[in-house]
Amino acid sequence: MTSRTVKFALLLLALVCCFLVPTSHSQRTSNVEQRVNSLLAQMTLAEKLGQLQQLDGEANGNYRPEHLDLIRKGLLGSTINVRGAQRTNQLQRVAMNESRLKIPALFGFDAIHGYRTIFPIPLGEASSFDPSLGERSAAVAAQETNNVGVRWTFAPMVDIARDPRWGRISEGSGEDPFLGAAFARARVRGFQGNDYGAPDKILACAKHWVAYGAAEGGRDYNTTDLSEQTLREIYFPPFKAAVDAGVGTLMSSFNAINGVPASANAFTLTKVLRDEWKFDGFVVSDYTSVKELINHGIAANEEDAAAAALNAGVDMEMVSRSYNTFGPKLIQQKRLSTATLDEAVRRVLRIKFRLGLFDRPYTDEAREANALLRPESLRLAREIAGRSMVLLKNDRETLPLGKNLGSIAVIGPLADDRRAPLGWWSGDGKEENTVTPLAGIKTKVSAQTKVGYAKGCEVKGDSTAGFEEAVNLAKSSDVAVVFVGELAEMVGEAASHASLDLPGRQLELVQAIHATGKPTIVVLVNGRPLSIGWIVDNTPAILESWMGGTESGDAIADILFGDVNPGAKLPVTFPRTVGQVPIYYNHMNTGRPPEAENRYTSKYYDVPWTPLFPFGYGLSYTTFKISNLQLSAPRISVNGKLTVSAEVENTGRRAGDEVVQLYIRDTVASMTRPVKELKGFQRVTLQPGEKRRVEFVLGPEHLGFWNREMRYVVEPGEFRIMVGANSVDVIETKFEVTPN
Ligand code: BGC
Repeated sequence: MTSRTVKFALLLLALVCCFLVPTSHSQRTSNVEQRVNSLLAQMTLAEKLGQLQQLDGEANGNYRPEHLDLIRKGLLGSTINVRGAQRTNQLQRVAMNESRLKIPALFGFDAIHGYRTIFPIPLGEASSFDPSLGERSAAVAAQETNNVGVRWTFAPMVDIARDPRWGRISEGSGEDPFLGAAFARARVRGFQGNDYGAPDKILACAKHWVAYGAAEGGRDYNTTDLSEQTLREIYFPPFKAAVDAGVGTLMSSFNAINGVPASANAFTLTKVLRDEWKFDGFVVSDYTSVKELINHGIAANEEDAAAAALNAGVDMEMVSRSYNTFGPKLIQQKRLSTATLDEAVRRVLRIKFRLGLFDRPYTDEAREANALLRPESLRLAREIAGRSMVLLKNDRETLPLGKNLGSIAVIGPLADDRRAPLGWWSGDGKEENTVTPLAGIKTKVSAQTKVGYAKGCEVKGDSTAGFEEAVNLAKSSDVAVVFVGELAEMVGEAASHASLDLPGRQLELVQAIHATGKPTIVVLVNGRPLSIGWIVDNTPAILESWMGGTESGDAIADILFGDVNPGAKLPVTFPRTVGQVPIYYNHMNTGRPPEAENRYTSKYYDVPWTPLFPFGYGLSYTTFKISNLQLSAPRISVNGKLTVSAEVENTGRRAGDEVVQLYIRDTVASMTRPVKELKGFQRVTLQPGEKRRVEFVLGPEHLGFWNREMRYVVEPGEFRIMVGANSVDVIETKFEVTPN
């Protein structure tokens, strides 16, 4: 080969490499940082503040006329609720063609459990104890949302909630930080994938940072007062999991934490999030939560509010306009440094670059129509709903029903309701797409089965005028299935309840139907634990269907008639009465743990201290036995790992799922420790007679806690290990942690 040919070959190789070798992560990161900084250097103060402003569109998805002008001037970086490929493209064209620096707008929307294909409410989905379902439903939500021009969702909602009075308990994964973290991780992966700039993926937002679910009295927006231990051990873990999974944004919450509002809280926003967790995305405030710092009483006016929020670490302001209005003055008065402002802008731009918005700002309008309610999305919604419904009671195998029944009475205000199954945050879900339970049952039964329907009463209100018709229908049918619970408006934001009883006359309706002597099956359609003691004591079968989404009715029918064997478990404790709240499984032992015969112990005089249904509880149409608990060693060091395993056997006659749950207890420690903490779970499917050994690995990340010096430590000593099918029915053993 001549030297010229060699040179030519090398040149060719270099060129090919340039095209073929993917840019490394660090190269991409430094490219993004370079682009961010060069853009920042060109921005005026007003344009910088513009990137920190988010404004609301109209409920129907339209933008507002002022958005056009603000975007043209570079004064608006993001919107919420504006959706539809055409509308977002219109606004985006203004940003890309008419604004000075051509910075694309970022469109956000609440696709909490689906965009058009609505999945079960997150509390329901968490009942599946199968985080892979959270990932798959979020992936469908991302695909639909992306195709309507929205590249950012305000989800997952990862607030731990120990108080069913709080309406937003329906939006999260329940009371447990370990389960909550697993779902947080899965949902972030589902929305974002490995790269939220990829087609069909969107940017996620873990919310509400933080302790929003601890609102005193369960009253929404209320203040919280929590120890740092409780914050770190109970409320932080799902956020940490989301950050570790690469979530691009967080939302700061409405509540105050120990006297400092979460939207002006430098401890949570900067010390924990940035310094400890190294989060490099941005934080958006909740809706007007910056301006609300005035109501909290830590800001005298909007100027103060803007300074407090920006300096604490809230980068983007949702809806209120304090940053934009007062930013220039704050800079001038040196209450806000240019460095702090620039850092906030940098974080927002970084995410816009990572999303690929500068290179692909528009949405393909032709794809939108085929993006929604795809058959495979609906199939998944049905599957997830079926895997999320919890069988609470089933005496004498009342369920499943035969498809050849002579007649079935479908009764109750939620039997044919299209709105409730969608929940409160129903994305852009449409009632006309909901399959109601009545429709699901009609499709399922044989042609000979007579299906009668009577509403009986409303969910709210006092009228019992419909009872007679419902009772007569039950009398003339072989079996009655009664659908009671809550309306969509009764759950979610600003829907705190002081009572957990069934609203209106619904309990009396169930009682009237039960009094006919016909087998009465109760199906709950609701978004929070309800105190349904009478129903539990008197009716033979109860199915908790939650608010099961678009395909809810089909999924309920799948379960009622045995095509799907329920295997879900409660991710939250059901109290007997609201007076027991807060009641959660991972409580401390106290100095006087409850004893029935001893008055001077920690319990109630008038009701039992135990819950109606414990965390992790749920039945199946088959039965399981968990046995033969084994440990890989009797002791491990503080840094060691332990394998725990147990056998689970399907002892019944049908294939079914059991969720094997692993709990630990640190028996003696320098701080009081919970009586149980979930540290592992696996949902397994077993054929009749099949037996399997299920394994869990425990390490320092499971065994430690935040000590008095606020350090995470694993303390030597004895630990109890409990494995079971719920948080109460467990088999147990012990092991020892040694100093080294
Ligand atoms: C809610 C958030 C939501 C936001 C935007 C607020 O009222 O608290 O969860 O993301 O509105 O819709």
